[in-house]
Amino acid sequence: MFSLNKNPIGIFDSGVGGLTVFAEVKKALPNESVFYLGDTARVPYGSKSVNVVRHYSLANLNLLITLGVKAVVVACNTASAAALSFLQERFPNLKIIGVISPVVEYLLTRPELKRIGVIGTNTTMASGAYQQALLHGNKDLDISVKACPLFVHLVEEGLFKGKITEMAIDMYLSEMKKNPPDALILGCTHYPMLRNIISDYFGKKVEILDTAFYTAKKLAGILSENGMVNDGSVENDRFFVTDDPNSFRTTTELFLGYKVDNVFHI
Ligand code: DGL
Repeated sequence: MFSLNKNPIGIFDSGVGGLTVFAEVKKALPNESVFYLGDTARVPYGSKSVNVVRHYSLANLNLLITLGVKAVVVACNTASAAALSFLQERFPNLKIIGVISPVVEYLLTRPELKRIGVIGTNTTMASGAYQQALLHGNKDLDISVKACPLFVHLVEEGLFKGKITEMAIDMYLSEMKKNPPDALILGCTHYPMLRNIISDYFGKKVEILDTAFYTAKKLAGILSENGMVNDGSVENDRFFVTDDPNSFRTTTELFLGYKVDNVFHI
């Protein structure tokens, strides 16, 4: 049996996209081992209703708890928007963090950023979770949001640049570009892979904010404040998927630049 400090961190996502969060967690916490769960059988979450996303998220969380994790990151923006408080209410003694509040908390330390753009999936944008969190922190923020559902598919095809992706960006974001925000939150696991092309589209004046980076920093703070930092050796990371492990293994290369081993069907 592990001591609690040595137990892995659990991360779950609807599929492969949460590997952007995995990468930031590994950078911020190289001495922690991570169990990553991708619900590849039921992806995408971004077009599903809040109730369905809650149901899937609860199943994911239960699996990670069975695997003995000491804290959980809900890497999926859609699941964070639809299900985070639902999960936290059911497991009040487990540290469960989502990807929305860390970037919002950061933004609130930057009062000069008054006009905020947020992009994500249909369900994330329709939930109003980002809008509520931002306005709760500062009711004077001017917020514009846009669902960009095709971006997930473009990223999964490896189309991080090129004509088709440029056209999709222009189709979704030309209105926002006319009156550009001071900062743009990439509110979806896949969008960091389009960071450069989106930044080129808006130009240098728009600050691009990646939720994964702030989430990893917040997790590091929570572990250290609660005496939960791993004080022993680091176990190998493990990846669990609900569909074919081979196709997941292949796609990891797109997101991480290398193929992961230790992928198990669950
Ligand atoms: N992981 C999802 C998110 O961050 C994107 C993919 C999906 O729709 O499931 O919202």
